[in-house]
Amino acid sequence: AARGYHEKVISHYEKPRNVGSLPKNDHDVGTGLVGAPACGDVMKLQIRVDDDGIISDVKFKTFGCGSAIAASSYMTERVMGLSLDDAGKIKNTEIAKELCLPPVKLHCSMLAEDAIRSAIRDYRSKRAKLADGKAKTTQAGFIDVSQNSPTGETNATH
Ligand code: FES
Repeated sequence: AARGYHEKVISHYEKPRNVGSLPKNDHDVGTGLVGAPACGDVMKLQIRVDDDGIISDVKFKTFGCGSAIAASSYMTERVMGLSLDDAGKIKNTEIAKELCLPPVKLHCSMLAEDAIRSAIRDYRSKRAKLADGKAKTTQAGFIDVSQNSPTGETNATH
């Protein structure tokens, strides 16, 4: 079993999973783009979220060291099928442990934690803007209706 585990870890380095991009402007896609100040490496991680708030697709592109690539590959598999809340709780220490990263490589796994959080934030702010747009439309309709109501007159007679 230990051997199988080791091979799984190695394969994240040699054959990263879910490399690529999702269409950034889709309303159900959140994009996280983060950099590591320590080394200048950059990671882009994107999530697609279904109507139930579950992550249904994940893609990443990492311009950085092998550990950062392995960390983002691991992260994509880890968050697939999770709710946004659960995905946002994943800690870099878990990734570092799973991938056996040495202490000097901790910031590489931190990049993956930052990236998923940033993607979730982006998705949520997109949704908030969308909901805001809908709310304004509804409100406009509501105002139209209330203008036709006799509320003002009723108040005046009291
Ligand atoms: Fe910078 Fe790994 S050395 S992300």
